[in-house]
Amino acid sequence: KQPIMVGLLGLGTVGGGTLRILQNRVEDIAQRLGRPVQVKKVLVRNLHKPRPVVVDPALLTDNPADILEDPEISIVVELMGGIHPALDYIKSALKAGKNVVTANKDLMAVHGRELFDLAEAKELDLEFEASVAGGIPIIRPLKVCLAANRIEELKGIINGTTNFILTKMTQEGSDFGEVLKEAQALGYAEADPTADVEGLDAARKLAIVASIAFNSRITLNDVYVEGITKVTARDIQYARQMGYTIKLLGIAKEIDGKVEARVHPAMIPDCHPLAAVNDAFNAIFVKGDAVGETMFYGRGAGDMPTGSAVVGDIIDVARNIIKGHTGRISCTCYHQKPVRPIGE
Ligand code: NDP
Ligand code: HSE
Repeated sequence: KQPIMVGLLGLGTVGGGTLRILQNRVEDIAQRLGRPVQVKKVLVRNLHKPRPVVVDPALLTDNPADILEDPEISIVVELMGGIHPALDYIKSALKAGKNVVTANKDLMAVHGRELFDLAEAKELDLEFEASVAGGIPIIRPLKVCLAANRIEELKGIINGTTNFILTKMTQEGSDFGEVLKEAQALGYAEADPTADVEGLDAARKLAIVASIAFNSRITLNDVYVEGITKVTARDIQYARQMGYTIKLLGIAKEIDGKVEARVHPAMIPDCHPLAAVNDAFNAIFVKGDAVGETMFYGRGAGDMPTGSAVVGDIIDVARNIIKGHTGRISCTCYHQKPVRPIGE
């Protein structure tokens, strides 16, 4: 049977994990779908750089047209990061009738609406499970499994790098700068780690999940943001003495019809489950009126966990292509709900 052809844009940490999973599970995926999924081309900046995964050099290209203009490729997977040129590439892919999978929260937090509109108009899938909390399933559960609920509150640890730093500072008294370097070496941090430590990465993710949870349109500008750069070893020590652990939290709740969204360091009582979420793990509490409290926990960053979410999206999109119906649940009908400024 004809393979479903995939084009990868990017082969760094997440691209490497994604390609490795697709290679390792090639037969299982073909069996599951009844058709194989094949990576036809991979866009990179530097054709000669060593890669984190074994890759046939003939697959690599530095020309985006080799993917975006190839009529055989039906799924474009954007794992480059940043806004430009990722936004233009995704738009070109959708305009050319290709389904899109992305892990790019920078893009989805700011340009999500226009991309959903484009995908919807073309009846294509636009999936982005990996953009929030790495390997943890959270986008699809909010869109589908918890759709029966009015979500009352969503809160959690949604940045692996800062949780890794705070864990090491708390448990080992490590130096902030040294641990940040370690997080970068492990592939957890963003290309510009300021986005992690200043809370921006968590704010982008919160904007994405809060939009879905509250069926609203929360953009990055609506989120109050404070990172962990001002948290000192002494703060951590005092908190510990009082029975608290400091974590960077993302919190969104609906109050009187308005959505409040904020990211900031918070003192968590040691007996609370969030206090025990360590290293690059993430955890998200979601409280719905019907289901009550739920918690999603797992690895929030890194090559294989994030690759897991990306490949899950690829399989889902491939299944839709085979069944002949796309755009099922990708497009969220956001209402323009008022946003509640902090402190109101
Ligand atoms: P990396 O920096 O490790 O990889 C980026 C890849 O994209 C590289 O292969 C790079 O090519 C390629 N690339 C970047 N810009 C261009 C360009 N202009 N033209 C061609 N190729 C380009 O990033 P990550 O894998 O860490 O992150 C990718 C995305 O996934 C980001 O959106 C990130 O926010 C998101 N994400 C990351 C997670 C993580 O744990 N790292 C977790 C969840 C989401 P080259 O290698 O030649 O330089
Ligand atoms: N830099 C991000 C983090 C990657 O540390 O959580 C996962 O989105």
